[in-house]
Amino acid sequence: MKTLIVGGGAREHALAWKLAQSEEVDTVLAAPGSEAIAAVATCFPEIKESDPTALIALCQRENVGLVVIGPENPLAEGLSDQLRNAGIVVFGPSQAAAQLESSKAYAKRFMARHSIPTAGFAEFFELDDALAYVREHSGPCVVKADGLAAGKGVTVCANTAEAERALTEAMAERRFGEAGSSVVIEEMLVGDEVSYYAIVDGERYVTLAPAQDHKRALDGDQGENTGGMGAYSPVPLVTDTVERRIIDEVVEPTVRGMAAEGTPFSGVLYVGLMVDPSGVPRVIEFNVRFGDPEIQALVMRMEDDLFPLLYGAACGKLDPRSAPNRWSEAAVCVVVASGGYPRDYPTGIEIHGLDEAAEDSDVVVFHAGTRLEDGHFVTAGGRVLSVTARGSNIADAARRAYRAADRIRFEGAQLRRDIAGRAISS
Ligand code: AMP
Ligand code: GLY
Repeated sequence: MKTLIVGGGAREHALAWKLAQSEEVDTVLAAPGSEAIAAVATCFPEIKESDPTALIALCQRENVGLVVIGPENPLAEGLSDQLRNAGIVVFGPSQAAAQLESSKAYAKRFMARHSIPTAGFAEFFELDDALAYVREHSGPCVVKADGLAAGKGVTVCANTAEAERALTEAMAERRFGEAGSSVVIEEMLVGDEVSYYAIVDGERYVTLAPAQDHKRALDGDQGENTGGMGAYSPVPLVTDTVERRIIDEVVEPTVRGMAAEGTPFSGVLYVGLMVDPSGVPRVIEFNVRFGDPEIQALVMRMEDDLFPLLYGAACGKLDPRSAPNRWSEAAVCVVVASGGYPRDYPTGIEIHGLDEAAEDSDVVVFHAGTRLEDGHFVTAGGRVLSVTARGSNIADAARRAYRAADRIRFEGAQLRRDIAGRAISS
């Protein structure tokens, strides 16, 4: 079967790489894809992820059997509904169900209705009201622009002054554009963050392995929030008991609640959780697509075929027996980013060492933001590369990922040195 991946970042590169290995997939197509993805898929660079008409025409022309939508923006804009209306089989939630990610306020209200554990919150449409609230409730809090902001619309604030600044940046200066026209202010949760994934067909689900992202730009979880600077899997703090609680208290009621409210969820439900020191999980956020860079680590670990899961979910016929149960021991993904990211950064800088980095057969370098110029890859985004390695344990995978990442050089390159560090020292 022909499978089309919508998107062109490192997550889509990883999905294309994995699906290309499936015996059930003849050809992987990607729109727009990227020059790096072209190594494993036929790319259509002229077709944008925001162009449903062109995507539908491509599916009909190429007789595509399954479309997998990578990023959140087309899901929030209703691409899956438009493709389904054209009779195309799609992995990805409807626009209505995608609100779990596209509106933080929707997600918070949904969790309140279904008693899903999460941080307390308040919602504001006016800067003055929000400022008054943080002045009244002093102490740490988290300020979130309501709409989509590429993972960057969230500011964790240690005190009232920081909260005032974050609110002013989001609501008055519109640092995150229209996403800042309303904000959610949340109680600050403490513990360790975990990303957990369920593939859902509207009613049934199967779960993948837990992973941990590193959202802050700098070592030791310092600096600003980013789209994600690295990831690893498995996560030792997610014991069987913790995993059971995540499934029973979060995944199950979410899948049931969405179906009961007439917005059944199909696609991948990505639950971002804080697990407190006593093992209690609380939802930080829902996303409605694979995590980037977590999926890069997960596909490196997954030994089973991914295609039957995605196709089963897309058709509403997920077979719980197709749950992946063969995982290699560990994988670690280190993101190499442009200097300046997550704020302004230059592009067009030549990248050296990609071939040396890929010499280890347990390493794959997925491309997030690159393009070819005169036969050389140059930087073309904030996050540039996802250097991903398998290993016999987390420390071994991290060693391989860093050895490969250190072979890659471009001016201004920044990476965190402590990806997976917490799992290795614990
Ligand atoms: P989000 O986009 O909602 O995932 O938030 C981005 C990041 O901000 C999360 O990955 C956490 O590191 C942090 N964060 C968000 N909400 C909270 C919270 N209520 N308590 C503590 N940290 C949070
Ligand atoms: N790993 C963070 C994200 O995909 O939103």
